[in-house]
Amino acid sequence: MSEIATASPADAEKFDANDWSSVRRQFSLTPEYAHFSAFMLASHPAPVRAAVAHVEQVLDERPQDYGLGMHDLRHGALARQALTTYTGGTADQIALTDSATMGLGLLYGGFELHEGDEVLTTEHEFYSTRESIRLRARRDKISVRTVRLYDDPATVSADAMIGKLVEAIGPRTKLIALTWVHSSTGVKLPLREICDAVEVVNMPRSDNDRVLVAVDGVHGFAVEDAIVADLHCDFFVTSTHKWLFGPRGTGFVWAQPDTWRRVRPIVPSFSKSALVREMAGKIPAGPPGELNSPGGYHSYSARWAVPAAVEFHSGIGLPRIAEYTKAQATQLKAGLAELPHVRVATPADPALSSGIVCCSIDGVSAEEAAERLLREHGISAGATPYRDSLLRIGPSMVTTPEEVDRAVRAIAALR
Ligand SMILES: Cc1ncc(COP(=O)(O)O)c(C=O)c1O
Repeated sequence: MSEIATASPADAEKFDANDWSSVRRQFSLTPEYAHFSAFMLASHPAPVRAAVAHVEQVLDERPQDYGLGMHDLRHGALARQALTTYTGGTADQIALTDSATMGLGLLYGGFELHEGDEVLTTEHEFYSTRESIRLRARRDKISVRTVRLYDDPATVSADAMIGKLVEAIGPRTKLIALTWVHSSTGVKLPLREICDAVEVVNMPRSDNDRVLVAVDGVHGFAVEDAIVADLHCDFFVTSTHKWLFGPRGTGFVWAQPDTWRRVRPIVPSFSKSALVREMAGKIPAGPPGELNSPGGYHSYSARWAVPAAVEFHSGIGLPRIAEYTKAQATQLKAGLAELPHVRVATPADPALSSGIVCCSIDGVSAEEAAERLLREHGISAGATPYRDSLLRIGPSMVTTPEEVDRAVRAIAALR
């Protein structure tokens, strides 16, 4: 099979990674509206579309040749290797999943906890973290404590959030479950500082007693100019079908090498070493990334196209993408802050926010605002799926500063 990872942009000779309009032309997004919710479920840029189509074709032509385990191991290894561009470390640290939710379920379901151990989490988690932990707690006699890191997201401070979290760590706390960028408010946690503060708490603790930090990183991954290993967390879970604009139905769990041993796989791995050992009557074992990747046949056209997505994204450059997104988010927040009937929930400080911008509008619910923005103004935004729903607008590499101004004018007209 030809190398799936080397599929190039459709109009490769014309593609200019330094020109944002050229980047946008790689997507088939409808010009009917401005795409401020593109980060939720990726549109595939041309090289990803080409890679997906190529895998579909070869599997349709020769399913027996390519649908068997060795090909998934090989292309799975290429996907893992490509992802190390943004995780740092080695491919062995990465377990492939189909979504962030699958990764969170595997991690919180499989992390080694004993009766009386505590998971510390926050009020700001998305459903997938909350529910993964609830399902685990229902099975085993562990306790779950939930801390509120802020009351008003617009005025959060890094020190206050770190202080509240560290204060809440108890003698039986074994795992802290956090989300890097809150999809409810757009608040970005000072993750590295939090992990370093937890490390101080860990100093007098034995290795097995250390408090580990697990992070749902979906709204920071591939949009914050950061490499996962530099965040100092123990586990990092994300999908690659959001800000990476990777294939829909892909994601991964990353862990420090020595912390993977604290997770028990839940779904049987199809790794070669696991299968060989099992057939020899032994307990499956092997490199942690492979051992913790759920086995079975997968949506291979998505998984094997991950390297094409990393190549496209890193060809534009993570620092440039982060800067372009952040500049638009700052412009959007500044524009919205001028509107008397709008309250911006997301911090203005780029150190405490990322690409997501959330706000409320006097007298207009978030659902109504999103619906009217699309219908009356050709602006695609969303309503956050949380109890106190806010309007959520996400600039990204597929939006422009002009569209940001248009979004502000459209929101000004909503009353
Ligand atoms: C914070 C957060 N985590 C996880 C998810 C779910 O990601 P996935 O679709 O990859 O499971 C979402 C929203 O889709 C989210 O906002």
